[in-house]
Amino acid sequence: MTGSTEKKKRLAVIFGGASSEHEVSLMSATSILENLDREKYEIFMVGITKQGKWLLYTGPVSGLTAGDWEKPEHTVPAFLSPDPTVHGLVVMKEAGAETLRLDCVFPALHGKNGEDGTMQGLLQLSGIPYVGCNTLSSAVCMDKAVTHTLLSAANIEQAHYLWFYADRFDAAPDTIKSKIEARLNFPVFVKPANAGSSVGVSKVERREDLDAAIRKAAAEDSKVVVEEGIAGQEVECAVLGNREAQASPVGEIGASAVFYDYEDKYINGTSQLFIPARLEEDVAEKIRQTAVRAYRWLGCSGLARVDFFVTEGDHRVILNEINTLPGFTSISMYPKLWMETGLSYGGLLDRLIELALQKKEAHS
Ligand SMILES: Nc1ncnc2c1ncn2[C@@H]1O[C@H](COP(=O)(O)OP(=O)(O)O)[C@@H](O)[C@H]1O
Ligand SMILES: [Mg+2]
Repeated sequence: MTGSTEKKKRLAVIFGGASSEHEVSLMSATSILENLDREKYEIFMVGITKQGKWLLYTGPVSGLTAGDWEKPEHTVPAFLSPDPTVHGLVVMKEAGAETLRLDCVFPALHGKNGEDGTMQGLLQLSGIPYVGCNTLSSAVCMDKAVTHTLLSAANIEQAHYLWFYADRFDAAPDTIKSKIEARLNFPVFVKPANAGSSVGVSKVERREDLDAAIRKAAAEDSKVVVEEGIAGQEVECAVLGNREAQASPVGEIGASAVFYDYEDKYINGTSQLFIPARLEEDVAEKIRQTAVRAYRWLGCSGLARVDFFVTEGDHRVILNEINTLPGFTSISMYPKLWMETGLSYGGLLDRLIELALQKKEAHS
């Protein structure tokens, strides 16, 4: 019988997280929860507070962005068990601990402690199929210095860059600033190696402004990346699939700020998306091919959004970064790029869950 409770897949959506992108996750998870087909899935909402506390939430979906989901009347402490014989959550009810078996987990988390391989390691131990990349590819794509190093080994074009540990800068700031000046042309972009949503990213026009930018990036991560600024279009490509991954049409961001910063992404609502991007077909095709090549090279599975710059004038395709759990609201680039091909937001969620289950079968 279709629609019977027995047939429904038991799916946990994990949201929040001890991350600078906690609020972004609440927005992504809200859209995901609103669009999952309740006929197909029995849904469990698991929130992680900024302090890292895990809660099974039973209130309405609207409570996520309203902040109600942390209130005790709607929650029971619960956490994911690393034990594959549990294959789910341990729920700390007043009468004692109970286990809740799951068929799949959708980590709707962004940034540290969610997109960086830590959650994926726990999910791997738990034995539960999960949406998205595995531990290694999540960790590699989260760290912009490691991504740069591995992509240069595949001859994928990127901005000129260098990176250093923040404590090296504290010990010898002038040496590092001189290296930046010698190797890169201004403007440069200074970024934490591990962050996201433009948190800690600055555009720097002159050597005198490097100190402040480096300290800002170092507040987010112990590793700092500095890149030459690329003048041109900022474009993104959505990749979906396991080893046989597909690339979506290319989308373009018309940032309304000096660069595509946090406010521009989530607060102002004034940046524009162009789908498809304003590009010649051969350039768009090169972007799609490079996106899939990078995805496969870094061992991605499930999904990732691969971001590029296309240089002004000569239209070179320069890879910026790979996001393994990209923004996922219904107006975010990743789902919108697939909508362009006719795949609905809900259809995309079904596909991601299917891919998670397939990957698990392939490995067991
Ligand atoms: N090398 C660069 N040249 C031009 N703009 C850049 C460069 N690096 C970053 N930016 C701008 O800063 C934004 C955030 O940087 P990004 O590397 O994508 O970090 P995040 O992981 O926080 O999204 C980009 O979307 C882009 O607008
Ligand atoms: Mg980015």
